[in-house]
Amino acid sequence: MLHALCSRRVLCMERFFCSNCHRSYPLQPSRWRCDCGSFLDLEFEPKFPIRKILKRRPTLWRYREAVPIYHETSILSMKEGFTPLEEITFDGNRTLVKMDYLFPTGSYKDRGATVLISKMKEWGVQKVVEDSSGNAGSAIAAYCARAGIECEIYVPQDTPSEKTVQIQAYGATLRKVQGSRERTAEVAMAAASKIPYASHCWNPFFLHGTKTFAFEVWEQMDWKAPDVLVLPIGHGTLFLGVDTGFKELKEAGMIRRVPRLVGVQSAACAPLYRAFRNGWTEPRPIEKRETVAEGIAIAEPVRGRQILEAIHRTDGEILAVTEKEIGIALKEMGRRGHFIEPTSAATIAGLKKYLKKKSRRETIVSTLTGTGLKSVGKML
Ligand SMILES: Cc1ncc(COP(=O)(O)O)c(C=O)c1O
Ligand SMILES: [Zn+2]
Repeated sequence: MLHALCSRRVLCMERFFCSNCHRSYPLQPSRWRCDCGSFLDLEFEPKFPIRKILKRRPTLWRYREAVPIYHETSILSMKEGFTPLEEITFDGNRTLVKMDYLFPTGSYKDRGATVLISKMKEWGVQKVVEDSSGNAGSAIAAYCARAGIECEIYVPQDTPSEKTVQIQAYGATLRKVQGSRERTAEVAMAAASKIPYASHCWNPFFLHGTKTFAFEVWEQMDWKAPDVLVLPIGHGTLFLGVDTGFKELKEAGMIRRVPRLVGVQSAACAPLYRAFRNGWTEPRPIEKRETVAEGIAIAEPVRGRQILEAIHRTDGEILAVTEKEIGIALKEMGRRGHFIEPTSAATIAGLKKYLKKKSRRETIVSTLTGTGLKSVGKML
């Protein structure tokens, strides 16, 4: 059925669907998970009109027909995206690294936030809640500020002050939760029974923002896909966005295959690494230890099953890196002119590990996801 206000016919076929029990739901701001308890995905058919794309500004909104927002007037943009893809050589191996710490709020989370909060605006939502280790909260808070949407951000008590101050600077209400990151999520979910949940891990509109990473890489590599991507995994919102983006390009006939996806976790909190090593289809509970890479310290990834499926489907793998390896990578990137946060250094430590054992010639893309300015206290 055609949406009365819909100006773009194809987008009106969108709906949420559950890959666990195969139920589907109309799009609504209050719907953030399936009645069976599983996460939801979005059914959506993107288009890639290359001539039109080339005429547009270098922002992630240049892939307009591939982003599920109906009306131009709903779009909240700070001209974000189209980050540089810089060549960096590690131990004689050429790689391409995407500079996603150069987003307005200092992390790649703006990719997801610009799309998810544009959708919330389109729905006429007045207030949202979100929980985060800091960066997603900052991004959601910033775009809510642009939209005039009130927001409440739940973070663990020990979140670095650089991130909590940033969230408050955008005018959001900050709620610090005693206990773990998982406890923080529980408290936010309780609040989400009354207020729309702008969750980066549950809401699939966030992934339809992070997928623009794939489109940009495709364009920056002269409309080709790389062989491999090495990406961080906490909840996997960049990882799954990249998988979604390349799957969409493949389905549209733009590339031949989805690249191999290699995920990186901190050895101190590595539920998906453990599941991958043991051949499990779902992560199981783990003992979480302290890590400097707080952004990927996720003991219970919401979309764990989906991440493991993507790893197997693309013939990828998951690597775990130690605190020492993260520290070395952090220093090395600083000496190369990139001041990044420890979570981003973990990805580089994983990339270096991957390069050591690879046996074939291949094009490899990785990323720097967050600025070091977010972790000054920790580094001190
Ligand atoms: C800088 C940075 N990199 C990577 C990640 C990992 O993102 P995800 O949890 O979606 O896998 C995060 C998450 O907070 C982050 O802040
Ligand atoms: Zn279901």
